[in-house]
Amino acid sequence: MHYKVTVVGAGNVGATCAQLIAQADIADVVMVDVAADLATGKALDMMESAPVLGFNARITGGGDYDPTAGSQVCVVTAGLARKPGMSRDDLLAKNTEIVSEVVRQLVSRSPETILIIVTNPLDAMCEVARRVSGFPRERVIGMAGVLDAARMRWFIAEKLSVSVEDVDAFVLGGHGDSMVPLPRYATVNGMPLPQLLDADTIAQINDRTRNGGAEIVNYYKTGSAYYAPGASSYEMVKAILLDKKKILPCAVYLQGEYGYDGLFIGVPCLLGRGGMEKVIELKLTTEEKALLAKSAEAVKGLVEALPK
Ligand code: NAI
Ligand code: 2OP
Repeated sequence: MHYKVTVVGAGNVGATCAQLIAQADIADVVMVDVAADLATGKALDMMESAPVLGFNARITGGGDYDPTAGSQVCVVTAGLARKPGMSRDDLLAKNTEIVSEVVRQLVSRSPETILIIVTNPLDAMCEVARRVSGFPRERVIGMAGVLDAARMRWFIAEKLSVSVEDVDAFVLGGHGDSMVPLPRYATVNGMPLPQLLDADTIAQINDRTRNGGAEIVNYYKTGSAYYAPGASSYEMVKAILLDKKKILPCAVYLQGEYGYDGLFIGVPCLLGRGGMEKVIELKLTTEEKALLAKSAEAVKGLVEALPK
């Protein structure tokens, strides 16, 4: 089957994700942006890389949603970044408006699609997409945990001077300062991290993971991370389209798992052609449960602040 993936928002994250999908030849990509020429231009630029890189997927771009019809997966990266003078609530209101409109346009043309939400504040925007689409939780999935875990994996690999390929890690909770890195479940080629690094070093890695987004913003100054976020979104698209049954940390609408009901929280889940096919419940210590509860409170606060 020939797949089609739509990426809304042809900015930094959207374009990076689009290029990776096309380059892997797993689907044709339609990019949509309110800045239509930006999307058209980036699509053309990417197609001109195809002869060099050797991919056959087609990338198109513009401001019109009609070409998105029948997409198997839609990635939503459209949104504003917080500007000086703008409060968190202002951003929440503005991005709620944007994500609502984008999701309405997408689902009217691709009623069976699987939505991957990237726009911040992530967990609240997932809830907006769920409400607007009316989709079951299997088809509204947030990208954050793959990114947060990738950051943690890199920090571990760097510290131990080992291949990133050998390092696995999980980060639970909301995509904010209170996210919960889980060193107990981090491994290096099967060896538990706590056997390889002392507690202080692990605590430093946890902190750096929690502040991973801010660390990049401090360098970029006018924008936020996009190579790792684009790659993380691509990994989710690939796991779904290729029915990999891959276990990845994603923001999922919990229905009783981990003791939460009716809230998007980052947890490990199985991704396949049905979207989010299964929530994986890890056994947590009392301390880990308390950290997750704090993170869930932060997500709840954002959801309660959503415009009615
Ligand atoms: P960007 O500013 O480079 O791109 C955003 C794009 O959205 C722009 O091209 C803009 O024209 C477009 N846009 C705005 N309103 C639109 C609308 N109504 N319809 C269609 N397109 C619209 O920003 P970047 O760096 O690509 O980030 C995108 C979003 O992803 C931000 O909200 C950012 O905070 C979030 N993000 C989330 C991450 C996560 O882990 N969940 C990681 C990195 C970024
Ligand atoms: C990040 O973690 C900004 O959410 C974005 O880089």
